[in-house]
Amino acid sequence: MSDLFSHLSLRGVDFHNRIWVSPMCQYSAIDGVATQWHDVHIGSFATGGTGMIMMEATGVVPEGRISTACLGLWNDKQAERLRPIVDFAHSMGTIIGIQLAHAGRKGSCLPPWSDHPMASKEEGGWECVAPSAISFGGKYPVPRALSIPEIRELVVAFAQSAQLAVKAGFDLVEIHAAHGYLIHQFLSPISNQRSDVYGGSFENRTRFILEIAKEVRTVIPDSMPLFVRISASDWLKDGWTITESVELCKLLKDVGVDLIDVSSGGTSSGAPVPVAPGYQVPFAERIRIEAKIPTCAVGLITESKQAEEIIRSGKADAVMMAREFLRNPRWPLQAAKELNADVKWPNQLLRGKG
Ligand SMILES: Cc1cc2nc3c(=O)[nH]c(=O)nc-3n(C[C@H](O)[C@H](O)[C@H](O)COP(=O)(O)O)c2cc1C
Repeated sequence: MSDLFSHLSLRGVDFHNRIWVSPMCQYSAIDGVATQWHDVHIGSFATGGTGMIMMEATGVVPEGRISTACLGLWNDKQAERLRPIVDFAHSMGTIIGIQLAHAGRKGSCLPPWSDHPMASKEEGGWECVAPSAISFGGKYPVPRALSIPEIRELVVAFAQSAQLAVKAGFDLVEIHAAHGYLIHQFLSPISNQRSDVYGGSFENRTRFILEIAKEVRTVIPDSMPLFVRISASDWLKDGWTITESVELCKLLKDVGVDLIDVSSGGTSSGAPVPVAPGYQVPFAERIRIEAKIPTCAVGLITESKQAEEIIRSGKADAVMMAREFLRNPRWPLQAAKELNADVKWPNQLLRGKG
């Protein structure tokens, strides 16, 4: 019996296994609207036996996108174009969620394959905002510090975007509070040097994410799981820590968050991250045990036996994979074979099962 291929139930959603597709920006949207690239990209995972697909970081407002070609979810047109993608995933029996995001000081980029990194005004770029007027460094300009009314508007924007996700048919939503984007910028004392109720103490730095999670929870159905992706550590002296993450996750659980998607880093490109197979798994384990909330682990998980061991030993409730899914979108079909587990193949592919 494989634990990786066992069911997991959260609120009204039954995940038929615990191998999930991690959110991955595709820089292929037009005005925040999905394109045929998304149909094929997400469709390939939906035919590959995964238990859940998380769609990429999706801006809740135009200035919340990472790049000019990122997905957005602030209007009906964007929601309507996501609907066939969701419907196809459902036709394959696959659960699908969407990651709602605001890039803050790390926005207004061009796709990474462009010949220059930042979008000018003429190219559709915008003025970036952040908790404090501190640049991420390198190519990034100094952002403008948000006012308190603007922060409150963004809380509402996350909730409105979540309502559009419900309308588009998604099974769950994830709030992106990791990787040095806006919410993480509020959490980390390195990027948040405010002196009002949104800066300084742990209580103040966590106010924004808790307000967003509370607001989103009230507008989505009771049966719908709510995930939050965090960076468990900045990997920096004087930065956000795993101890603070544990305390935050207890509070997120109290406001109705169902699972923490545990990543790390993103506050500084110079952070000494000890990248190695499964290097973020200990964070997922610690949060699962100490905050008593389901977690999923991510980061250099590429082997079926490695993934199985993470679930079997209780280090996390699910695993997410990103780059391995780019190499092999149907990875779970192969992993099931290796673990002697059962996974449903689409009828059209059965002759490849062997
Ligand atoms: C092309 C690409 C795009 C990504 N976009 C996102 C994103 O939209 N949101 C997010 O939280 N993480 C994003 N990530 C990070 C992945 O979700 C994942 O956490 C990271 O790649 C580590 O997992 P892996 O070792 O399995 O690739 C992206 C990674 C890649 C490779």
